[in-house]
Amino acid sequence: MQKTDFLIIGSGIAGLSYALKVAHLGQVTIITKKARVDTATNLAQGGIAAVLDSADSFDAHVADTLASGAGICNEAVVRQVVQAGPARIQELIELGVHFNQDQNGTGLDLGKEGGHSSRRIAHAMDATGREIERGLLAQVERHANITMLENHLAVDLLIASRAGIDVSGPVLDCCLGAYILDRSNHSIAPLQARVTVLCTGGSGKVYLYTTNPDIATGDGIAMAYRAGARVANLEFVQFHPTCLHHSKTKNFLISEAVRGEGGILVDERGQPFMQRYDPRADLATRDTVARAIDSEMKASGDDSVYLDISHKPADFIRHRFPTIYQTCMSLGIDITKEPIPVVPAAHYMCGGVLTDSRGRTNLNNLYVLGEAACTGLHGGNRLASNSLLEAVVFADAAAEQCQLDWLELSRKEWPRVPGWVSGQAERLEECVLISHCWDQIRRLMWNYVGIVRTGQRLEMVRKQLAPLVQDVANFFREYLLTPDLIELRNIALLAQLIVRSAQQRKESRGLHYLVDYPEKDEVTGRKNTVL
Ligand code: SIN
Repeated sequence: MQKTDFLIIGSGIAGLSYALKVAHLGQVTIITKKARVDTATNLAQGGIAAVLDSADSFDAHVADTLASGAGICNEAVVRQVVQAGPARIQELIELGVHFNQDQNGTGLDLGKEGGHSSRRIAHAMDATGREIERGLLAQVERHANITMLENHLAVDLLIASRAGIDVSGPVLDCCLGAYILDRSNHSIAPLQARVTVLCTGGSGKVYLYTTNPDIATGDGIAMAYRAGARVANLEFVQFHPTCLHHSKTKNFLISEAVRGEGGILVDERGQPFMQRYDPRADLATRDTVARAIDSEMKASGDDSVYLDISHKPADFIRHRFPTIYQTCMSLGIDITKEPIPVVPAAHYMCGGVLTDSRGRTNLNNLYVLGEAACTGLHGGNRLASNSLLEAVVFADAAAEQCQLDWLELSRKEWPRVPGWVSGQAERLEECVLISHCWDQIRRLMWNYVGIVRTGQRLEMVRKQLAPLVQDVANFFREYLLTPDLIELRNIALLAQLIVRSAQQRKESRGLHYLVDYPEKDEVTGRKNTVL
């Protein structure tokens, strides 16, 4: 496992889609740090947004995306993604992904979510991501040129200048692959690649409460930043308004599609409250809804608010939301009869590694796709169900670029790269060092860098993070690496980068709400926060 043409890190929708599109060019290796289905894609409930109805239009989808993005989307990228949507969805269907059909069986059943002016969400019941992951994995598994390595974790990117390799004149430094830890024997070795693609997903685990799976530790963003790539807009952390609040479950989402089908947010006394915050009420964009819930909970002192869909026919609820119905039922909540206790939780990183319209970064041969990327689509607040769409559109654009470059890329000599050096590192005997640090960072971020921020709290967290980050750097030098230590190093860096970005944006826009500056600054605020 030393050389591959394409190294893809991550096995969600972005990585699998890209793999299928470049596998005819050369050998593809997908590494994934746990099992292949341990991805955020697999948990996605709502669906994938695209213009699929004759009453809808590209202009309307573009306008909704721009409005949600609060003035800092890249309009050309928005248009690129929206216009490519129908073709990419057709392609998923041809690859064997089954979306729900409408009642006449003549087209797709389209759902609605916050911020969308039309029904445009293709879905597979309330488990769309699981169906997409299933369909794509089935194709990947039968492809002779694609190898999937589970339980393999990237530690750092292999960067030419740092490996002492002359990249013969290009202006940009060059990515040559990554150092990979094999969980089965704890060895770390370089895996060289002509093209490296980070599809590592989000960073919800930086926060104490998240809808994300455990793998979401911002690995791609952290590795790319350490390697010299530019990252942007990390202050825009999206909190999903409705994560199930129950002591026996930690990250179960109640899809926004529930509100799309008539679900209403109510307080403990059963009173609806969203109309007081926004004329779109329960279907306002996520930044608005999450802030409204935060404000209601702070005012009432209650532990949660409630999402009530029990006024809809029970058969409809059971059929449209089988996963949510069964999960809630297993916890003693019958959603056909009673409201669901919900709280906001960290859900999606709108910023990420800065890419161009083809997924390229400022390092040669390093691409970033999916949630780890900042393409310009989401701006200050991602429109619901635009992320799966972004992943397939950019996977396609990146593959097209690689095809164009392939003749030149495939002729390059493989340089000699240094192995991983563990030096005097020792076995870590006390795992509590890691778990304590991990917990401190996540609590700090939850308490101080959440839905509503203040300059004072951001400064406090900046100061408190510094010694923790130093401890983590020391652990990294002194101890043999474990997956937990690698992930801790990544969430520590992400936390610092989020705080730095938040401190630079002295205004309120989209998901970044700063009490000290409650308004948008239209003079300086319309630019990306680039680190
Ligand atoms: C949801 O089903 O509410 C999540 C969809 C998304 O995050 O876009």
